[in-house]
Amino acid sequence: MAIEAFVFDAYGTLFDVQSVSQITNIEFPQHGELITQVWRLKQLEYTWLRTLMHSYKSFWEISEDALIFTLNAIGQEASPAQIERIMDKYLNLDPYPDAIDALTALKGVPLAILSNGNQEALDALMQNTGLGKHLDAVISIDKVRKFKPHPEAYELVEARLNVKPENVMFVSSNAFD
Ligand code: LAC
Repeated sequence: MAIEAFVFDAYGTLFDVQSVSQITNIEFPQHGELITQVWRLKQLEYTWLRTLMHSYKSFWEISEDALIFTLNAIGQEASPAQIERIMDKYLNLDPYPDAIDALTALKGVPLAILSNGNQEALDALMQNTGLGKHLDAVISIDKVRKFKPHPEAYELVEARLNVKPENVMFVSSNAFD
């Protein structure tokens, strides 16, 4: 079966979500690692719950809600400025060291991202990290307002790239994805 497009998940696959620990460790020394881990789990949980409840909020808002939950849960007070500084890392996450090499090696076949991230945040991340120039499309689920693994989220790929699902190689580090 011919592969006509490679589509990647963003957060956790091309970009290291754990790289937020650089800032969580600065803002909350001693707690950075715990915040980083709990935050990600809660963030994903909120995506699934909101899709099930038909109560969409953008991934940016969900991420902020999950961060506030996490800080409350471990008894840390955070100022709005601290929340903003931590959230800002989501616009500057570290790409995994092999991400650009992998995309460069695959050049010639359409390359895209399909992510839970809202378009604005994804576009800023692509711009800030330079990864955008290696991709033909950056597709956000916010067009259907349903988070992965809802089938409608994946249907965006065919609609945008005009490639049948059986001809897409989808790459994700998330087991549910
Ligand atoms: C994404 C989430 C799953 O990038 O991390 O879609």
